[in-house]
Amino acid sequence: MTSPLRLGIAGLGTVGAGVVRIVQTHPELLEARAGRAVAITAVSARDRNRDRGVDLSAYAWEDDAAALARRDDVDVVLELMGGHDGIAKQVLETALDHGKDVVTANKALLAHHGHALAERAEANGRIIRFEAAVAGGIPVIKALTESLAGNEISRVMGVMNGTCNYILTRMESAGLPYDAVFQEAADLGYLEADPQLDVGGIDAGHKLALLSAIAFGTRVDFDGVELEGIGAITIDDIRHAADMGFKIKLLGVAQMTGRGLEQRMSPCLVPASSPLGQLEGGTNMVVLEGDAIGQIVLRGPGAGAGPTASAVMGDVMDLARGLRLPVFGQPAASLRAARAAQAAVAAPYYLRLRLLDKPGALAKVAKVLGEAGISIDRMRQYDHEDVTAPVLIVTHKTTRAALEDALSGFEATGVVQGQPVAIRIEQV
Ligand SMILES: NC(=O)c1ccc[n+]([C@@H]2O[C@H](COP(=O)([O-])OP(=O)(O)OC[C@H]3O[C@@H](n4cnc5c(N)ncnc54)[C@H](OP(=O)(O)O)[C@@H]3O)[C@@H](O)[C@H]2O)c1
Repeated sequence: MTSPLRLGIAGLGTVGAGVVRIVQTHPELLEARAGRAVAITAVSARDRNRDRGVDLSAYAWEDDAAALARRDDVDVVLELMGGHDGIAKQVLETALDHGKDVVTANKALLAHHGHALAERAEANGRIIRFEAAVAGGIPVIKALTESLAGNEISRVMGVMNGTCNYILTRMESAGLPYDAVFQEAADLGYLEADPQLDVGGIDAGHKLALLSAIAFGTRVDFDGVELEGIGAITIDDIRHAADMGFKIKLLGVAQMTGRGLEQRMSPCLVPASSPLGQLEGGTNMVVLEGDAIGQIVLRGPGAGAGPTASAVMGDVMDLARGLRLPVFGQPAASLRAARAAQAAVAAPYYLRLRLLDKPGALAKVAKVLGEAGISIDRMRQYDHEDVTAPVLIVTHKTTRAALEDALSGFEATGVVQGQPVAIRIEQV
């Protein structure tokens, strides 16, 4: 009879306890599918006395997670603690050096140290799996690494931070300003201890960097991700964008261009009728484009105990069945250093300006745009109560550099009041 696959779980919070629950709920199903039993042998967390809603009495307890990673009765270490350094990194390194495979949900750790850890895994003949680290329960790593392995990937896009999508869709549906919805999200416990990880786009940027590495065969390059959060998005922009047929999303986009690898995590407008535009609340969506497949859209829960533990267990089951793939889909030595593209691919932009209500004001704005080589697709002026009027412009495709020229040119017209807003429109 094949020996059981023995798991050591470091971290028994939302995700770790969720994994224990799955193993305890479905032991026969797991064994039937893997052809061997999947058993937890040891666990670790900080507080041994905390009630985690699952029975841990059958498992050995380690106060020190690194000691768990060295145990002889553990084949696979599940790192479910978090943090991009410190104990999480130590646990992965210890596990790999002691001949254990690793499953982790830790995007921050892999975004910062993924390449070095992949090399270390290979040097030890071990593998690291991380389906749960990107878009929670959505099997996007598997889709890219396995199902789409025959494609040249042209673009990866995604809404991969449910909290930001919740905030943006709630602002629109309730007509509330950013600060009020941010507070609501905090009260509901949706925000990370450091909210900048969510609303600053950092957490989603980590995920995008991991997808890029697999999609484009490059070393993980989180520093190359252009990051912009959602803190400056106003309810006015959400309403005006809706008026023009768009939704505002914190959208990650990665594509290989002639000028290098472009990785952006920033607020973008997408057509309201597109799958991304229709995404509501905390749900995640990843769009993958390849030369043979065209486009596929994956949608599902990006966080929470069940979905994240589901992804962790998918990785565990692959290991139990003997599936062994390189960490980023190809040997670490063959991953190229990513050359970051200095400028994003040209795109249409949404501009919102406040114009003095004077004859010729619009003509002056159009002239500045023309001089920057930017042509106007659509324009709309709104009723106003004071001396300025909001004007919305949707441009045809233009570069960011041309747009910057125009934005600085507006100042000299004497008719544009305050800071204009410019948001990229992603063609999806
Ligand atoms: N929650 C989600 O929906 C979700 C989704 C995708 C990915 N992830 C990722 O999954 C990982 C875990 O997230 P989580 O939400 O489950 O976090 P969590 O609820 O805060 O749980 C963290 C666990 O790690 C334990 N821990 C922390 N420091 C430790 C140490 N030095 N030694 C031993 N144990 C330690 C904690 O112990 P105590 O319980 O004793 O304090 C706790 O059990 C993170 O990398 C996160 O980014 C989470």
